[in-house]
Amino acid sequence: MKKILITGGAGYIGSHTAVELWNAGMEPIILDDLSNTNEDVLDRLKEITGKQFVFYKGDCNDKSLLEKICAAHQIEGVIHFAAFKAVGESTQFPLKYYQNNVGSLLVLLQVMKENGIHDLVFSSSCTVYGQPDVLPVTEATPRKKAESPYGNTKKICEDILVDYVKSKPGIRVIALRYFNPVGAHPSSKIGELPIGTPQNLVPFITQTAAGIREKLTVFGNDYDTSDGSCVRDYIHVVDLADAHVKAFQYLAEKGADFYDVFNVGTGNGNTVLEVIHAFEKVSGEKLNYVIGPRRPGDVVKTWADTTKINQVLGWYPKFSLEDSMRDSWNWQKSLG
Ligand SMILES: NC(=O)c1ccc[n+]([C@@H]2O[C@H](COP(=O)([O-])OP(=O)(O)OC[C@H]3O[C@@H](n4cnc5c(N)ncnc54)[C@H](O)[C@@H]3O)[C@@H](O)[C@H]2O)c1
Repeated sequence: MKKILITGGAGYIGSHTAVELWNAGMEPIILDDLSNTNEDVLDRLKEITGKQFVFYKGDCNDKSLLEKICAAHQIEGVIHFAAFKAVGESTQFPLKYYQNNVGSLLVLLQVMKENGIHDLVFSSSCTVYGQPDVLPVTEATPRKKAESPYGNTKKICEDILVDYVKSKPGIRVIALRYFNPVGAHPSSKIGELPIGTPQNLVPFITQTAAGIREKLTVFGNDYDTSDGSCVRDYIHVVDLADAHVKAFQYLAEKGADFYDVFNVGTGNGNTVLEVIHAFEKVSGEKLNYVIGPRRPGDVVKTWADTTKINQVLGWYPKFSLEDSMRDSWNWQKSLG
């Protein structure tokens, strides 16, 4: 079986991707420092797949650990999820973000070069587009100045990859620009595990419905959108995980020194209020929410044009917004 190193593989998107890789006949080797997850995820992955995945607890910036992993396993590809992702925290501690998110990519590329590993899928984000001038967003849409150090780390990592591939190191790279990942595995055994107050809408919704949070604040209902609240493209995490499988299958057909980017979204925008109503519909719960003032720095509306990933990778999302809400709610309830 083709062995794929998944940095940050015990995290939200990484754990779901481990399942989809395994289902597609690839063996995930997981590296995670557990800074934003916990080791139980490995047991949960075994319950879903029947397989105890190889797991290394450690930091992706630790070159000697990466070398040890490569010496122990014939790694053929890498998915680099490992990063810090809290936008607000990144404005308080920018160096922490540059060190971890950019530093770990540099270490990883060196180790890949030294060990003859050619294929890399990199976790990028629609944050690189900022508030786009034209919607929907294609991959040719110009990137905007980053709104936060976190967003800037994604832009810088993309630029590093472009420059590196131009130097002809023999590698093949796909950067996937995720829109808004939501949902959980339909088994309810893995899902998003926010530490502290959730930064994202859907965990905040499910925690409010579960009584962990008192109420949800909708930041603004007077924007130029169908109901005045902000619009995002919410993609089910299992569909997103599948995009990584398709990316590896596509890379296998390409020659050396290849780089490309793909949007991963549904191609549809939904307002915050539509998400709340979809949640209420599938859960049967009445959500305690209030309308608050606009939040400075919020992108008003963005959603993906997915023509490229549909046509080139043959990837299409299978889950609806209602599916995402149902799976997120079941996951929340499974946490007790
Ligand atoms: N969730 C989103 O909304 C979103 C959107 C766009 C892009 N992304 C990107 O996708 C990737 C995965 O995001 P996620 O939502 O699964 O986040 P997550 O925090 O759940 O997963 C990241 C994992 O990486 C681990 N980690 C962090 N730094 C590490 C290091 N130096 N060495 C080893 N492990 C490390 C964490 O413990 C965590 O388990 C990140 O790169 C993130 O920036 C996420």
